[in-house]
Amino acid sequence: MNKELVIVLDFGGQYNQLIARRVRECNVYAEVHPYTLPIEKIKEMNPKGIIFTGGPNSVYCEESPRCSKEIFELGIPILGICYGSQLMAYLLGGEVATAPVSEYGRTEVDVDKASVLFEDVEAKTICWMSHTDYIAKAPEGFRVCGTTPVCPVAAMECPERKLYATQFHPEVMHTAEGMKMLKAFVIDVCGCAGDWRMDSFVEDTIKSLREKIGNGKVLCALSGGVDSSVAAVLLSKAVGKQLTCVFVDHGLLRKNEGDEVEAVFGPEGAYDLNFIRVNAQERFYEKLAGAIEPEVKRKIIGEEFIRVFEEEAQKIGAVDFLVQGTIYPDVIESGLGKSATIKSHHNVGGLPDCVDFKEIVEPLRLLFKDEVRRAGLELGIPEYLVFRQPFPGPGLGVRIVGEVTAEKVKIVQDADFIYRDEIAKAGLDKNLGQYFAALTNMRSVGVMGDGRTYDYAVALRAVLTSDFMTADCADIPFEVLQKVMTRIINEVKGVNRVMYDLTSKPPGTIEFE
Ligand code: XMP
Repeated sequence: MNKELVIVLDFGGQYNQLIARRVRECNVYAEVHPYTLPIEKIKEMNPKGIIFTGGPNSVYCEESPRCSKEIFELGIPILGICYGSQLMAYLLGGEVATAPVSEYGRTEVDVDKASVLFEDVEAKTICWMSHTDYIAKAPEGFRVCGTTPVCPVAAMECPERKLYATQFHPEVMHTAEGMKMLKAFVIDVCGCAGDWRMDSFVEDTIKSLREKIGNGKVLCALSGGVDSSVAAVLLSKAVGKQLTCVFVDHGLLRKNEGDEVEAVFGPEGAYDLNFIRVNAQERFYEKLAGAIEPEVKRKIIGEEFIRVFEEEAQKIGAVDFLVQGTIYPDVIESGLGKSATIKSHHNVGGLPDCVDFKEIVEPLRLLFKDEVRRAGLELGIPEYLVFRQPFPGPGLGVRIVGEVTAEKVKIVQDADFIYRDEIAKAGLDKNLGQYFAALTNMRSVGVMGDGRTYDYAVALRAVLTSDFMTADCADIPFEVLQKVMTRIINEVKGVNRVMYDLTSKPPGTIEFE
């Protein structure tokens, strides 16, 4: 499956993942590796091309990240981006200096259409710049093929050695014709055929899982989310009944979700696997009684989840493999420094301490989220599961402010169901990052019929986000919100007020707790 590989060599830029994604959009498989990847290893991996990422450093600082100059002698095409372009210039004898004026943002670049990178690009094209240093003079043997009034070498090339560099970022969408440039590099310069496809990934993964697992026993914690669902289906196709999926219904799922998961993966479903549904609602509610503080609630849910899973695993007996739904961004990000804990995330995949097993299998380790979805479709998983919006491990527990009770769970499930229904009817579901109803802990006075009410307030939230690290409040048409409000008040007992949450992230988080 990896017969055509492009290596993205990471020099600390923010867009390293994005570069890999863009290359994969050209149907060429790409992997991100640290800039310290040894030359020997690179030779062994035999990539068709290498891309140097940007990075926050100046090449002339002692401690700036550098690779060996030998990399340019391998005969492998290289594209340097931003810091990567400066590094290429610096290591090959060009001049890098502090630019008299930093360029930041959309910038018109004059490109030379004689360069293979820019053949299909307008002669004046908008590119995204973000730099304080620049290449003042290209190394000997290089030709300048892009300039701006500020930047004498916005792009350079040495086609004889298959070396290319851009000061701007072709990978970001603000570079209007960036995809054309990347495609020209991977297809025309590197000579890739562009035959990385999901069907071959699925086929190859099933084959290699079969080889790895032999007749071993496999255990998977299934949450019903897209990652664990795709992982489970891949494994069931590979080893059938050797796989047992444990689905813990903690009573904090969205309305009907437990039954939906069971319909797909249970005995009536389409897959050949052992499915165990544990209805642990009462256990969770009991443990959560009286807990108010968000972190305490998260810990209770996480720990109880592990206990339930552990009990089920013990019933199954020793397993050889535990499945985790780790995806590529987790793999890349786990290499970075530790940041402040805002919330203790609970992921149902990660249970290595409590269950006896020999090895972890991570069949999605190399895929981005959209690729996981494509693999899911390829495997015939229903669309509503494949395109399900992200749902936090602690479920509605973090969408009910304060104490969780069965009554409150029912309220938020019903309100959320109506909200999702109306969003879908209005055709807005595909455009939103995440949207849900939450239950505030606030009760207020209202009047219904001719009587006084003293009931809960439901908060509706909808955000636009690409990475879930930052998010903006979505501009849902007022008529839609009004309709949702009316339906919730009329159909959900215990609610007399509906609010729309306008907060972006930061300062808010997406979930309420
Ligand atoms: P926050 O609330 O931190 O959410 O802005 C960012 C994204 O993460 C999801 N989320 C979780 N996902 N386990 C998960 O697997 C968790 O404990 C968890 N908490 C939040 C949230 O739904 C949003 O997509």
